[in-house]
Amino acid sequence: MQIRNICCIGAGYVGGPTMAVIALKCPDIKVTVVDINQDRIDAWNGPLHQLPIYEPGLKEVVAAARGRNLFFSTDINGAIDCSEMIFMAVNTPTKTEGEGAGMAADLRYFEACAKQIAKVAKTDKIVVEKSTLPVRTAEKIKEILEKHGKDDVHFEILSNPEFLAEGTAIQDLFKSDRVLIGGDPSPSGQMAVKALAEIYAQWIPREKILATNVWSSELAKLASNAMLAQRISSINSLSALCEKTGADIDELSKAIGMDHRIGPHFLKASVGFGGSCFQKDILNLVYLCKYYGLDEVAEYWHQVVKINDYQKDRFAQKIIDAFEGNVQGKNIAILGWAFKKDTNDSRESAAINISARLIEKGALIQIYDPMVTGDSINNDLNNFWKMSNFSNNMIKEFILMINIQSSLLNALDNADAVAIITEWDEFKEIDFSNDVKVFDGRNIVKSFGNSDIYNIGK
Ligand code: UDX
Ligand code: UDX
Repeated sequence: MQIRNICCIGAGYVGGPTMAVIALKCPDIKVTVVDINQDRIDAWNGPLHQLPIYEPGLKEVVAAARGRNLFFSTDINGAIDCSEMIFMAVNTPTKTEGEGAGMAADLRYFEACAKQIAKVAKTDKIVVEKSTLPVRTAEKIKEILEKHGKDDVHFEILSNPEFLAEGTAIQDLFKSDRVLIGGDPSPSGQMAVKALAEIYAQWIPREKILATNVWSSELAKLASNAMLAQRISSINSLSALCEKTGADIDELSKAIGMDHRIGPHFLKASVGFGGSCFQKDILNLVYLCKYYGLDEVAEYWHQVVKINDYQKDRFAQKIIDAFEGNVQGKNIAILGWAFKKDTNDSRESAAINISARLIEKGALIQIYDPMVTGDSINNDLNNFWKMSNFSNNMIKEFILMINIQSSLLNALDNADAVAIITEWDEFKEIDFSNDVKVFDGRNIVKSFGNSDIYNIGK
């Protein structure tokens, strides 16, 4: 079966770059990315320097394929109708209410999309789960498709989780470690797996394309993220012990990582991991384990998130302690809001918790990030305080204590303390004045006059 038309529902951090790369590498396939958000689609169709997502190399890929075989649209029904293969890349955040609130994945958008596909489809479709989902979601999706679909239309469901990391998405998509395709063992399921494998085989070596059953594929994504995050929480937990004992976390990390059985990656101590995936996916895994009665396993993985929260709190407390417990009226510069460098994404960024805690204690905050917009920063803090049950009046007062700065120099002006949260390259060589306290969450300070320096794990 040869695929000529594909569409992707969800033009976000995953759907946008993934489809742009498929379109670039497969010029004979028409790729349409659709989204309910008109502004987002307009931005994808707008000037290349203002795409809705900042990702190194993305604008070059979009420039090469857009208008040729890559299209962005809000006509979701039209795109479903014309495509033989439909990717679903809508967001699946953590549930905020109902059963499993705070842990389970909210599949509302995902299920609504499945319903829409079922209602619109007049011909057979291969439906590909791109979003990260709890294991056995495909079963639910199949039920929805069969219940709402036409009798003579057949749906085949594949799981094809995305492993790209933001900030390196294009390189990750060009040179994936592996592409995972989970499908049904039936002949039609295997035909669907083959059809999707053919697309990736245009640029990924065949030995890196791994076919599994659907459940292994769904669970592999959650498990991969949990293992990566576990390494960060392990090293972060040791950073606290280093601070007590005089061991140095960077030396420790290097020494551990030189053992080839462990390896050097994902062993960098930090203010705590952020991003849309790690916390959400681990909580999802914890919920799944509990659901299946595996309480010990659930508790094991839950610790990874708990240590991450501890690390963020510990960093904020370090700043407060350096002022003898009183940051009231102190001017604190927060450098970096994105959850890592080279992205404009701030979901679950450690900067949010740390800034919120300092503001709650009366500090004035100057925030600078080269890519994240002021609106996003305000929304992040607003949502954080709402989730922490602060009243609207309190939140209004807190917001008055935030200044979003458009340059690094403005943020540093009159700062009593500087907290470096994101490892943006432009923060590597800052010359701090003599009397500022520097809290380096990423161990990147190279040049610092005579300021007091507080490093994680040192
Ligand atoms: C993705 C995955 O989908 C998620 O499961 C994974 O764990 C992280 O990455 P991401 O691309 O980062 O999410 O999310 P986001 O940037 O929020 O994009 C989702 C898009 O889907 C948004 O543009 C939103 O407007 C769109 N959407 C959402 C729809 O088009 N329809 C809906 O019903 C809901
Ligand atoms: C992650 C997975 O890496 C990716 O495979 C999956 O598809 C989505 O989730 P992402 O969240 O985009 O990707 O970025 P990643 O590079 O994994 O970084 C996540 C967080 O961990 C960042 O806040 C980063 O700063 C932090 N981190 C990473 C550390 O604190 N220490 C490290 O050694 C590595």
